[in-house]
Amino acid sequence: MTLLAPPPRLLMGPGPINCYPRVLNAMSTQLIGQYDPVMTQYMNEVMTLYRQVFLTQNHATLLIDGTSRAGIEAVLVSCIEPGDKVLVPIFGRFGHLLAEIAERAGAKVHRIEVPWGQVFEPEQIEQAIKSVRPKVLAMVQGDTSTTMLQPLEHLGALCEKYNVLFYSDATASIGGNPFKTDEWKLDAVSVGLQKCLGGPSGSAPITLSDKYVEIVRKRHHVEAGIRTTEHEHGMGSRIQSNYFDIPMILDYWSEERLNHHTEATSMLYCARECAIQILEEGIEASIHRHQLHGNAMLAGVEGLNLKVFGDVKNKMTNVVGVYIPEGIDGEQIRHTMLHDFNIEIGTSFGPLHGKIWRIGTMGYNARKDAVLHTLQALENTLRRSGHVLNPGDATDCAYQVYAKEEV
Ligand SMILES: Cc1ncc(COP(=O)(O)O)c(C=O)c1O
Repeated sequence: MTLLAPPPRLLMGPGPINCYPRVLNAMSTQLIGQYDPVMTQYMNEVMTLYRQVFLTQNHATLLIDGTSRAGIEAVLVSCIEPGDKVLVPIFGRFGHLLAEIAERAGAKVHRIEVPWGQVFEPEQIEQAIKSVRPKVLAMVQGDTSTTMLQPLEHLGALCEKYNVLFYSDATASIGGNPFKTDEWKLDAVSVGLQKCLGGPSGSAPITLSDKYVEIVRKRHHVEAGIRTTEHEHGMGSRIQSNYFDIPMILDYWSEERLNHHTEATSMLYCARECAIQILEEGIEASIHRHQLHGNAMLAGVEGLNLKVFGDVKNKMTNVVGVYIPEGIDGEQIRHTMLHDFNIEIGTSFGPLHGKIWRIGTMGYNARKDAVLHTLQALENTLRRSGHVLNPGDATDCAYQVYAKEEV
């Protein structure tokens, strides 16, 4: 067995991306026991930090151990009782994932869809809420599969009007696009670290409104072996998953510190460091940086004589989809980028498979040098494959974006 020595890749796909160096350092910090007062202090700090990242006053702001879909699953399985109606507007792969997870939790799922590359108007959502009368509206904010960013700001008021729990998966968008939990009246939000927050995958920060917590608390069933006479079962049905049982996880994150799983300490260190990184930079500054480098990449790919996918006015700042030109082997280009230049760009899923590449500029990699290196390498690779372009245009177009600001 050889030493662990992965090649020094520049990850310019839709995520995961290279970690901030300080996050890598945090990950290699020595472990402590899960009830060590220093550890519980770190857990409390994580709650405080992520309230600021999510822009919320929600007390219930914590980490679910697992990748982003662990956060999605915890939120949905804890609030959905079999037979509950859940409305899922789908505009890409991850909307399908929310629908699938809700269905597995026993929900009657009502899907509405727009073609990939578009987003929903609030009227379409209101119409569906009026006809379905769901318990939960579950919706992705930024769907990396299509690069689209669904505007959410008007949906909270609609959910309030029709007494619907409002949940969003902001895994791919938070930190690089505006997200305002309280102002937009969200009841539950889940994210991951591996996109604009610049960490590894493996921890899913979530935040839950008091209303959401009150609903799931009715399903509170403490497991045998740790249950005491003080613990009474809630009136609601027991949550189907033990691992993702939010009332029990909340007990663990509360002063009671009632044992549930063993907290993934190294991932908590990472999540803590990611939050400190973005808060030190400033949330507005981070969004602005993602917008700037995303715009430079967008201008650059147009300079490569490539056509951009989807409705650009609703594009996420941090990823762009580009059509693979006719006659060009998309996988061969990705192969050359990876093996000759050590740069990874993304393929795509479902109806877009084989049609577009997805190129990200996020977290640590939302940087001028990363954008310029990627464009330069892509230009060379495309030109050598016979794609017609004007050498130099791509980086010149990116430089023009940067010229508007001194970077
Ligand atoms: C919007 C969105 N939700 C969920 C996920 C799933 O994340 P994970 O692979 O960390 O479980 C992703 C990953 O790309 C995503 O972009």
